[in-house]
Amino acid sequence: MKQEQIKEIHEEKFEQKAVCIWFTGLSGSGKSTLAEALQEKLVENGNITQYLDGDLLRNSLNNNLGFSDADRLENIRRVAEVTKLFLTAGFICINAFISPTNEIRNLAKKIIGEENFIEIYLNTPIETCEKRDPKGLYAKVRKGELKNFTGIDAVFEAPKNADFVIDTGNFTIDEAINFIYNQIFPLISL
Ligand code: ADX
Repeated sequence: MKQEQIKEIHEEKFEQKAVCIWFTGLSGSGKSTLAEALQEKLVENGNITQYLDGDLLRNSLNNNLGFSDADRLENIRRVAEVTKLFLTAGFICINAFISPTNEIRNLAKKIIGEENFIEIYLNTPIETCEKRDPKGLYAKVRKGELKNFTGIDAVFEAPKNADFVIDTGNFTIDEAINFIYNQIFPLISL
């Protein structure tokens, strides 16, 4: 049996379309917050999901990688391969990764499959991200303790063809989640 057939059988079983909802954006843009809240809503709705994010994977599978361009590409390549496995198992994947360049996001899209890839770009301005600074990383950058930081001294290329773009500075978490949920509902329904 082909993997694609197995995916369909699992999708029927779980009564959902196994797609990847991929959040991209700067550190502090709200990716993890929205991804986790979205997962909760989907779980309450009876969906079968898997959540993957940068901090989680960089402490496990990818704990030998840093933040050079090459390491970020390898980080996302591995993440995309893992995501593909979960999709075959019929899961809806919710991924939160900075994934800062077109090259990196295109690689993820290629591995996961364009038809399975829903890209949500959180274009929260860097000033807002820095003000939030939930992990104190921007403060470290400003003190010179952290180099190669996305949006400061490492590149972030804005996606050109994201499916949805949200500036989380303009909405409450509930508003953003309801918007995303309403948009993706038809895409995760069989
Ligand atoms: S990516 O660029 O390779 O896609 P990823 O999403 O996995 O990044 O990891 C980003 C997380 O790593 C951030 O949320 C932050 O907590 C941490 N981090 C540590 N150093 C850096 C850095 N130099 N640039 C960006 N994020 C960093």
